[in-house]
Amino acid sequence: MQVTSVGHAGFHIQTKAGSVLCDPWVNPAYFASWFPFPDNTQLDWDALGACDYLYVSHLHRDHFDAENLRRHVNKDATVLLPDFPVDDLRKEFEELGFHNFLETTDSVKTSVPGLDLMIIALRSPADGPIGDSALVLDDGETVLFNMNDARPVDLDMVHTEFGDVDVHMLQFSGAIWYPMVYDLPERAKVAFGTQKRQRQMDRCRRYIEQVGAHHVIPSAGPPVFLDDDLRYLNDDHGNPANIFPDQTVFLEQMREHGQHQGILMIPGSTAEFAGAAEPTVKHAEDVDAIFADKAAYIEAFAQRQRPVIAAAKASWAPAEGEPLLGPLKELFEPLLVQADAICAGIGGPVVLELGAESVVIDFPAREVRALTDEKARYGFAIPPELVRTVLRDGITDWVNSIFLSTRFRAWRVGGYNEFLYTFFKCLTPERINYADGWFSEQHDDSADIVLDGWQVQKRCPHLKADLSRFGVIEGNTLTCQLHGWEFDLPSGRCLTSRGHELRATKLA
Ligand code: FES
Repeated sequence: MQVTSVGHAGFHIQTKAGSVLCDPWVNPAYFASWFPFPDNTQLDWDALGACDYLYVSHLHRDHFDAENLRRHVNKDATVLLPDFPVDDLRKEFEELGFHNFLETTDSVKTSVPGLDLMIIALRSPADGPIGDSALVLDDGETVLFNMNDARPVDLDMVHTEFGDVDVHMLQFSGAIWYPMVYDLPERAKVAFGTQKRQRQMDRCRRYIEQVGAHHVIPSAGPPVFLDDDLRYLNDDHGNPANIFPDQTVFLEQMREHGQHQGILMIPGSTAEFAGAAEPTVKHAEDVDAIFADKAAYIEAFAQRQRPVIAAAKASWAPAEGEPLLGPLKELFEPLLVQADAICAGIGGPVVLELGAESVVIDFPAREVRALTDEKARYGFAIPPELVRTVLRDGITDWVNSIFLSTRFRAWRVGGYNEFLYTFFKCLTPERINYADGWFSEQHDDSADIVLDGWQVQKRCPHLKADLSRFGVIEGNTLTCQLHGWEFDLPSGRCLTSRGHELRATKLA
């Protein structure tokens, strides 16, 4: 099996039974904020796009690059579709002209001639834009598990169905706006960033331990930020609080923890795998030229992309225009009516500062109105041109557009509120219904485990991770390493988000 990195979470996998192209991203995403790192524009995208199978793990724009798919990828390729609760991914493929689909069933092994495969579909509101996924491929010689940025809660079925995993690709770096966009004292920002940087690498190492693959390829990040306004986000100036460490940093962490199976792959690198045997890896570029002086590499990349960023900005809606209150009322209010669990979970008004205009989404009252003299727990200051652009273009997921752009400021009193971001990613009746139903559903959490002298419920109150695998106790705090949520053990209180109490008893 020959695996070629095409950048970020993207791979071209050549098997004896045909080629599979995964997550081919090359054009900037999220209001021209994110670019693949290292640069992958030099690849022969027509050749890569002449694939037999196409797999896009989810609809985030650093995975689903509509422009690249439209221009370069074979429309007769068979699209391997994850089993998502809403069919937005399929619809977007159809709009681009793809017409051959293999609809998979979540975590069920299936076959095409010469290849066994399985797609694990993650379907909670927190996973991607309602749906993220991971792909297992077996060509009879090599088992490959492309987890990209998905965070499966259970992995046992991978081993049950495929035995040992040979190659494991997964995310180790950041892909979020926290804590950088928050109005926080600098010291708090540094503390939160430092903690986040380490936690995401710890989580990745936990997954590596669990899967136990012979070879590991760190992938799915970090992005690089090339716009002058965002260059401070890159991990190129020795900031230990930066949440976007690169592959070389993580590979070093792996080695420090006795994990020696890591492989560095950058766009154009190829690796020939044959089961557990040591692969042959060839790089298309000089690795040292990229990582030895990363700041210089990014500077040169940014200069090359200046016209692209300028063109993207020129395509945005103007900042000035009709008041935004009317269109936002029209968009949000019908959704608020359907969102009982989400409105209750947010539990208060949220302020949107949009240039000269300020609007309140009053979740308890289910209405959108102009801001009066009031305080709110949560607030966002968003450039109005971004809001006008998503409204103009009918974009129904503000996480997958505005928030991931990092081109905004946020503030809050208290912890993270997952209901709030879920609301902003579900701006259609179908999505909001699904998410609200998901939150309303009762999950079984009756089983307990014993961990470091505490009896605690086995499944994390967030998304049901098995705490015997992902739980770490330090002092009186339990951290679930799947998403880094913390719980105060004596009180059971979730320290990260509203609600979500953990059952815990100190053992004598
Ligand atoms: S499952 Fe998300 S923090 Fe535990």
